[in-house]
Amino acid sequence: MIFIGADHGGYDMKEAVIGFLKEIGEEFQDLGTYSNESCDYPDIAKLVAENVVKNKVRGILICGSGIGMSIAANKVNGIRCALCHDAYSAEYSRRHNNANIIAFGGRTTGLEIAKQMVEIFLNTEFEGGRHQRRVDKINKLEEL
Ligand code: RB5
Repeated sequence: MIFIGADHGGYDMKEAVIGFLKEIGEEFQDLGTYSNESCDYPDIAKLVAENVVKNKVRGILICGSGIGMSIAANKVNGIRCALCHDAYSAEYSRRHNNANIIAFGGRTTGLEIAKQMVEIFLNTEFEGGRHQRRVDKINKLEEL
């Protein structure tokens, strides 16, 4: 189960990624936006981030560049949102950073790369060990 959201800059990509999630039989919940009409990415980032934390699952956020969504989502306690542009980043965001949201740009990332990143993000586990210590230090920053 994965939550997905986008602003108008990521809407077309979100629809295409949803098609891919259906293809691979991944259960998802689409938290909007539901058209190309202009909207504010922090509203969608908040929705997806809160649902990811509450349900202890993963999420996908897409805006024009992925930047605004990742900045906004990372303000929510418990979120480790990784802005990814390639398969390696998607893989290591899970293996080393235990990222729970992947963000990418609808205007900067091609669909085939996006599908590859999503599949990797869904299927790669956190390695723990020394990386757990580092993630714990990230979590401590939320107390500042
Ligand atoms: C909207 O035009 C655009 O600013 C937004 O989608 C995103 O790229 C922001 O980071």
